[in-house]
Amino acid sequence: MPAEKLSQPRLGQLGAYPFERLKRLFEGHKPNPELVHIDAGAGEPRLPLPAFTKELLNRHLDGFSRYPTTRGGDELRQAIAAWLMRRYDLQYVDPVTQVLSANGTREALFAVAHALVNPEACCGNGKKPYVLMPNPMYQIYLGAAITSGAAPYLMPCTRENGFAPELDAVPDDVWADTAMVYVCSPSNPTGWIADAGYYSRLLELADKHDFYVLADECYSEIYWDTPPVGLLGVARSLGREDFSRCLVFNSLSKRSALPGLRSGLIAGDAELISRFAKLRSYTGPATPIPLQMVAAAAWSDETHVQKHLEIYRQSLAAFFDAYAQGSPPAGSFFVWLPVEDEEMFAVAAFEQQAVTVLPGSYLGATDRDGSNSGAGYIRAALINGPEKAAELALRLKAVRV
Ligand SMILES: Cc1ncc(COP(=O)(O)O)c(C=O)c1O
Repeated sequence: MPAEKLSQPRLGQLGAYPFERLKRLFEGHKPNPELVHIDAGAGEPRLPLPAFTKELLNRHLDGFSRYPTTRGGDELRQAIAAWLMRRYDLQYVDPVTQVLSANGTREALFAVAHALVNPEACCGNGKKPYVLMPNPMYQIYLGAAITSGAAPYLMPCTRENGFAPELDAVPDDVWADTAMVYVCSPSNPTGWIADAGYYSRLLELADKHDFYVLADECYSEIYWDTPPVGLLGVARSLGREDFSRCLVFNSLSKRSALPGLRSGLIAGDAELISRFAKLRSYTGPATPIPLQMVAAAAWSDETHVQKHLEIYRQSLAAFFDAYAQGSPPAGSFFVWLPVEDEEMFAVAAFEQQAVTVLPGSYLGATDRDGSNSGAGYIRAALINGPEKAAELALRLKAVRV
């Protein structure tokens, strides 16, 4: 029996996930036993549950005895549409045709490429269509591009370009073969934020070269001073009331500190939503009804979100006061710190200071020039409150490689 029959070659092209790599890197190393461990590795908010969670879950427990719909129930989709309209000053978002529930945005950001990219299309000479993404990036974009049969095209985000995935650095022949572009704003891991001009230019290019724009805006409610603009808001300001070519992804994991709820939103162009909904009706990521009720409440309440934002801002301020170098990112709760060798630094931080941080190269990929735009950085997540953030800064300063 030919071995190829039993192995999926695209899966073989995926590297180990960053946290798997981190586990391997730390094998045989022990954290300094004299210090309490600070885990700044994963971007998992550690804040108390929003007050309404338990009561709502209890009230709707019976919902576990019914199958949820894949699109999400009316209450959830209406709450999402209402949040989008409030947040981005939109005229109208149709909860029926322009919104879907996601079981966390991770699965949605992955699956969307499988719904929208035609790997057999374009491009002459057996070439594949491109899926563009920042480098470094949330690794799901890379996995999605590869497994959907597209060719990932990386947009290096470096100190020199202000960590912006530069649109005007992409050659026209690449644009011509582009199927979709992932934007992450605010960016994990760099904290860069797309402004209205960036999104406008991208939409202009999308119209010219016929591709889709996917905005991962999971950190939209975590920012240093100004609330980030969103793709749908910019689309509206350009008169694209139908959000053509646009999909946005957002999540309750970060804004509401509910990563275990696994609940997010997908919204935008009704035609793309309909195609994605079709794929999802087969793959079946339906959000359980009691969880939908909690999610609807979380999109409808900003009080808890404001409290969380205050804690993240205090944490960022405390970190940079203590670190005495650099400044807070425009968005997200990540700090992206330059170091000589990111793997050596991460191991030393673990052994000497009982701190877990992620080597930046694990969030990057090898670029066309052979470099990895994440190399030479570590990412630390400020998820443990202001006091720990200050402590983390002092410990990172004390690391000797
Ligand atoms: C940039 C970015 N997008 C999406 C996600 C996915 O979040 P979730 O699946 O919890 O909604 C994460 C999670 O860390 C992220 O950092």
